[in-house]
Order: sequence, then C-alpha cells, then structure tokens
Amino acid sequence: NTVANGNFEWSAPSNIALVKYWGKKANQIPANPSISFTLNNCKTITKLGFEKKQSSDAFSFDLLFEGQPKESFRPKIEKFFERVAVYLPFLNNYHFTIDTQNTFPHSSGIASSASGMAALAMNLMSLERLLNPEMTDDYFYQKASFLARLGSGSACRSVKGSVVVWGEHAEIEGSSDLFGVPFTAEVHDVFKDYQDTILLVDKGEKQVSSTLGHDLMHNHPYAERRFAQAHENLSALKAALTLGDVEAFIKITESEALTLHAMMMTSQPYFILMKPNTLEIINAIWKFRAETAIPVCFTLDAGANVHILYPENVSVKVLAFIKDNLLGYCQNSQYLCDKIGAGAVLI
Ligand code: PMV
Repeated sequence: NTVANGNFEWSAPSNIALVKYWGKKANQIPANPSISFTLNNCKTITKLGFEKKQSSDAFSFDLLFEGQPKESFRPKIEKFFERVAVYLPFLNNYHFTIDTQNTFPHSSGIASSASGMAALAMNLMSLERLLNPEMTDDYFYQKASFLARLGSGSACRSVKGSVVVWGEHAEIEGSSDLFGVPFTAEVHDVFKDYQDTILLVDKGEKQVSSTLGHDLMHNHPYAERRFAQAHENLSALKAALTLGDVEAFIKITESEALTLHAMMMTSQPYFILMKPNTLEIINAIWKFRAETAIPVCFTLDAGANVHILYPENVSVKVLAFIKDNLLGYCQNSQYLCDKIGAGAVLI
C-alpha cells in the first residue's frame, strides 16, 4: 500500500450496562448477553498518528495522555495490538502515535477502558478504510466493535448509540458474541432522553480489575443460574424498553446491579466493592422514590460509584434531590451529569 503518513481523531463515549456482562470465555466471548445505554458526555478523544516504517518486524507506538508521554498504558495497548494484529495486517507497517484525553476527570473511578478502546478501534478502522476504501459503513462499524471487544469487552458497546446489545440472545435480531449491535426495536419515548447522573463515591483505583472479576465467575457456585438470569432479564428489559414500562425497567436494572455485586460477594476470593456511602445513596433513592413516585433508580459498575437513571422530564426535581441530599456521600461532593448518547464520532 502507498499511504505514507497521516492521522485520525475519534471520540468514543463510555456506556452504562443495564443487564451486566460479568464472566467470559476464551477470546473475550461473554458468558451472557448484556445491554447498555451509550453515554454522551463521558468520552475518550484519541488522536492516532501513523507513519510508514522501513521494516515491519514488530509493533511500534508512542503513547501520550493529554499530550504528555504515558508509559503506564503500554502493556494494555501492547496486548490489544497482539490480539488484533491478525485482523489488521497493516499494523506492523506503521509507527503509531496514540494521544488520548478524557472528558471526565482522571482518577474519578470512571473506567476509561470502554471509551478508550472504542476510540482506538475507530481510529484503526479509519486507517484500514484509507487502505481499502471500498468497505461498507456496516462493515466499518461492526469490525470496529469487534476490535474494541478484544481491547475491553464492554468497549464493543461504545461504538454506536443509543442502546446496544452484546452477546447472542434469542430475541435480539442479529445479536452476536463477537460485537455489539444497536437495539433496533422501537424504544419508547420515555427512555429517549434518559439521564445518568454519576455520583463519585470513591475515586480511588479499582479494588478488583475487571479481568480478575470475570475470572471469578469460573467455578462460581451461582454462575450457571446467573448466566441464565441475564438472558431472562434481557428479554424482560426488551419488553420494558419498547412498552415504556418504567416500573419494570427499574426492577430489572436495580436487581442487575445488586446481582453483579452479589456475584463478587459470593466468589472465592470474595470482595465487597460498595462503600457505606453507596448504601446510603441507594437507601435515599428508594425513600425519595417511595415518597414522590418519581421513577428514579440506580445502577452500579464494579465499584462504589452510583449511576442514577431517570427520565428527562423529571430532571429538575431529581437534580434538586441529589444536590440537597446526596452530595455529602460523594468524594469532594463530585458528580457527573450524563445522558443517553449516539456513539463514536470522527473529529
Ligand atoms: O469490559 P470489562 O472487561 O472492563 O467489563 C465490564 C464489566 C461491567 O462494567 C461491570 C459490566 C458491564 O457490562 O459493563
């Protein structure tokens, strides 16, 4: 090929799972299907510079974070390149400069692996398209999601918006273990502008890496039942999203969050990833919901931070509730306002 050098820049958002991915087989194949809202504001922006090399014997890349050298990312990117090399034969022919920044504060406890791996995958696909211009858009996005999955499983749900399914499921047309697919059933209006306010309870390093977390599902006493439950919950959530059944949505979403944490509490070794303030917030949300009938609920990642989910038309009341009652449970009163978004964007 003849392309000597150039660069691309993509932004890719984070996503928040409603039915959780927890447990995997070899090659980043999920043990159960998951579904997420793509976010809008929490993003990684990655610029990929590429320059043709003389020899093509090994990967070579420079890593920058916010314009400064960042060697601590190297092992992760190295592993990613090793996994995707067979799918991107041009990888060894170029020297890359990967310059990354996040729109959310670093060490906020917000994982950047989903948005980061998605943004990198988009850039690599842009280069592949430059070399093979005849590819379709469908191929471009599907392969980008496929590559992102090899970096971090949940990253395959960050390529597109606004609701994405990853993992084979009988009721989701076109669903695959290999890449995320947009949820194509008509989502009811009540979910269209859904809000996600993220309360930063614990901004520290993750206590349990997701790699270790997924491994804990091997030989887990409840694994098989949990994987079956994820299929059931995805069916029920599909119905709730199309019918606009917010009550069912709340039940499934909160139960999924607590089940994720229950899996960690019942593995060997066992972990408690919630903090006392996580429970304070959950109880305050339940009390507020009972008193006001406002359909607000929570979900959790594999950490102590709380995602508060609610329809756009109650956001004034919910934000007032959060500011008046919940900021004392957050580290330095910090929270992030986000909402459903549309996926990765070429800059
Ligand atoms: O993509 P990973 O391997 O970091 O796993 C993410 C797992 C959860 O965030 C806890 C759940 C999910 O489906 O996103």
